[in-house]
Amino acid sequence: AKEPVRVLVTGAAGQIGYALVPMIARGIMLGADQPVILHMLDIPPAAEALNGVKMELVDAAFPLLKGVVATTDVVEACTGVSVAVMVGGFPRKEGMERKDVMSKNVSIYKSQSSALEQHAAPNCKVLVVANPANTNALILKEFAPSIPAKNITCLTRLDHNRALGQISERLNVQVSDVKNVIIWGNHSSTQYPDVNHATVGGKPVRELVKDDEWLNGEFITTVQQRGAAIIKARKFSSALSAASAACDHIRDWVLGTPEGTWVSMGVYSDGSYNVPAGVIYSFPVTCKNGEWTIVQGLAIDEFSRKKLDLTGVELTEEKELAYSCLS
Ligand code: NAI
Repeated sequence: AKEPVRVLVTGAAGQIGYALVPMIARGIMLGADQPVILHMLDIPPAAEALNGVKMELVDAAFPLLKGVVATTDVVEACTGVSVAVMVGGFPRKEGMERKDVMSKNVSIYKSQSSALEQHAAPNCKVLVVANPANTNALILKEFAPSIPAKNITCLTRLDHNRALGQISERLNVQVSDVKNVIIWGNHSSTQYPDVNHATVGGKPVRELVKDDEWLNGEFITTVQQRGAAIIKARKFSSALSAASAACDHIRDWVLGTPEGTWVSMGVYSDGSYNVPAGVIYSFPVTCKNGEWTIVQGLAIDEFSRKKLDLTGVELTEEKELAYSCLS
């Protein structure tokens, strides 16, 4: 039998946490033959709720779940973890400026980066979900220099899956037949959902949809603004789809992407496709042996170029804002 893997979920008493921990305990993230020990971190005001989640995990009697650590201590939470899913963060409240939210979150990610660096298992894979996801991930990377940059990523898989979902609905085809959409850039409304290389059953999505106006307009804005649409409908932000996407992200990273298929991940940019280097930018990637590689050589038309640049500019500005909060 396999040794259990320790998986950290921060913000585990929150909405996404509540949807995510049972998925992990059922093997959806790491495979149905991989035992896990869940480490759940939250802050003291949420300690009682966190303990309630722990009680439910016990009550669910998950065969793969070999232990649960529920704590408000960052060091205890990070110790020995091989996967860290960072969902905890400070939400934007009414009347708060962007800079205030940024300031709260970058200071959280700066302090948690040290705990991960010192106490996580070597080669721990980190996925940042909490917003601003790309910039939180960047701060975590910058303040944990001994964690390799390739191990620190942010979640844009939800946006990727939303794009697959929109195409599948439009063409009335199975979502599993839609492949190779791309989310470029920031997990924000400047992200660029790109279908220029996407296929259904091997045929280009553009040829099948036959409506460039929709693909270049409403399709893009629907994906960009889907998070807001969910809040409007549910009064809470996306949780089950975010949790599911986090599982998809880690599973493909660890177990590999299927041949001929790529996924979108926010990763430390090396300047591929002439986007800014040194920010966490979402790219198309393939994964093999636990490592991601940016898909190279895709043609970028003029329309796309502008959109890749725009979201890159926003990430550069966020980086500057984050640093101005820290100084
Ligand atoms: P939530 O507010 O229900 O849960 C957040 C949890 O984090 C709370 O339990 C809170 O106590 C905890 N927390 C706050 N500060 C913490 C700290 N320093 N350490 C540990 N835990 C801490 O929020 P929800 O809906 O679960 O969303 C979580 C985050 O994920 C938000 O930032 C949200 O914007 C983001 N998000 C990102 C998505 C993506 O695709 N990247 C999609 C959906 C949400």
